[in-house]
Amino acid sequence: MIGAVVHRVDEVDSTQSALARLAQAGAPEGAVLTARHQTAGRGRRGRPWWDAPGESLLLSVLLRPTVSPAQAPQLSLVAALAVADALAAAASVAARIRWPNDVLVEGRKICGILPEATCRGDGGLDRVILGVGLNVDQPEFPPELAARATSLRLVTGRRHESERVLSALLDALDHRYADWRAGGFAEVREAWRGRSATLGSSVRLPDGRLGIAVDVAPDGALVVDAGDGRLARLVSGEPAAAH
Ligand code: BTN
Repeated sequence: MIGAVVHRVDEVDSTQSALARLAQAGAPEGAVLTARHQTAGRGRRGRPWWDAPGESLLLSVLLRPTVSPAQAPQLSLVAALAVADALAAAASVAARIRWPNDVLVEGRKICGILPEATCRGDGGLDRVILGVGLNVDQPEFPPELAARATSLRLVTGRRHESERVLSALLDALDHRYADWRAGGFAEVREAWRGRSATLGSSVRLPDGRLGIAVDVAPDGALVVDAGDGRLARLVSGEPAAAH
């Protein structure tokens, strides 16, 4: 279902905004919009998401799951897992996930995910537009990003056909989304744990204390040992990694 309809454009403000417009016009679940370049790409927490034309896979996927709005953030984790699957399938790259949804290779971010949920007037979930920005062909990054960002080209030492990566990603998303719809996050939890870069590392709690991430819960919350004999839960929405 995901990727049955793929809209390809050369340039757009943001694939998120463009797909939202198609969704308003009745686009079906699973519709995808991908662009070579965004003039107003956006990241999480209102940050801009900059790209050089043709160097990244920039796409948005329209989902209309029949779950409550509180469950929608789980899709970030599901999407990150699918990206890791796709990197393994298309490029034999072992990626790890920084909770909730950054995908890392060799400790550097290769992909960011932006879930944008819209509710109906009655408070129910109308749709989620899942944005994915995957660094494919960047030969280098500016000095201020070089320690934190990487691309498929940098980690493998060769160029990659972005259509092949897109196809692997849509296959993986379709598979993981179907599992999630069937059984919730619990269905993909074991696979997520196996790809996690966060479990076992230190994270900052909302009250400022540092704890150790010890597990991911069946609903996708990060379980943190706060060191005071209690386990805290961090719910996806805002990243909490402190390292
Ligand atoms: C992050 O901040 O890590 C999330 C970045 C998400 C960027 C992607 S690129 C395709 C889609 N369109 C956007 O405007 N943003 C997302």
